Amino acid sequence: MRIFKTAQEMSVFSRKTRRDGKSIGLVPTMGCLHEGHLSLVKSSLGSSELTVVSIFVNPAQFGKNEDFDKYPRNLEKDIALLKDSGVDVVFAPEAVEMYPEGFLTFVEPQGGLEEVLEGEIRPGHFRGVATVVAKLFNITDPDKAFFGQKDAQQCLIIKKMAQDLNFSVEILIMPTVRETDGLAKSSRNSYLSAKERKAAPAIFKALQMAQHMIELGENNPAAVTAEIRKMIGRAKLLDLEYAVVADPETLRPVESIGSRALALIAARVGTTRLIDNMLIER
Ligand code: PAF
Repeated sequence: MRIFKTAQEMSVFSRKTRRDGKSIGLVPTMGCLHEGHLSLVKSSLGSSELTVVSIFVNPAQFGKNEDFDKYPRNLEKDIALLKDSGVDVVFAPEAVEMYPEGFLTFVEPQGGLEEVLEGEIRPGHFRGVATVVAKLFNITDPDKAFFGQKDAQQCLIIKKMAQDLNFSVEILIMPTVRETDGLAKSSRNSYLSAKERKAAPAIFKALQMAQHMIELGENNPAAVTAEIRKMIGRAKLLDLEYAVVADPETLRPVESIGSRALALIAARVGTTRLIDNMLIER
């Protein structure tokens, strides 16, 4: 497995790979890898001739009072995991490599998707995500890039960015990987105390309840979110930030639930902020 730390080395290698006629799959990550990331890796390995995993905790997507400094980092362990999984290349730049002094050009999503939900609570977050992902696409030149459905809003924004900026990369969204009790795998789960970890699956249970209500014929999103509110309200240690039944494409709240809806929840479990969602079709 090759490990590149500079954009120049990575870029030379990917250009050569493409010239040799081989396809590249990219799995962008911020490290602290878990089974969710490894399922993306598996999909890439199964459909690309060469798989690149990027590991970069991107400062540009964290707000001032967010967890950039304490975000879990374990590069050695991540590298060992990726080696065992059969990954070809790890791209693990330092922040100054991605944002050298004088860096001043950002990709700014505009038009609505970035304004709601995570975008409202984390101003500037999607500007940071879009910028780093555009840079990773330019550096690694992938045919395919793999992202997890857990970050539903990020997936939609990246798809739109790739389309708007004419990146010739196919964006593939893979299902959320869950713990046996339903909690979505996330690097931030490592912040949870034992008690918080026990309480956290209430988020998934609330999504399941929403699914059940909608499948049984509930058309009123307010009735669904009221039940989610009650359920999360009853769960000790959980503090709901938002619960929405939205259009899966625009993420705007729907007035009446149709054949497809996306239920999204953000909640704090102690001081840890967790998000999850479920696509409900009937
Ligand atoms: O989902 C993530 O881990 C990050 O937002 C991403 C896509 C790697 C960009 O930093």
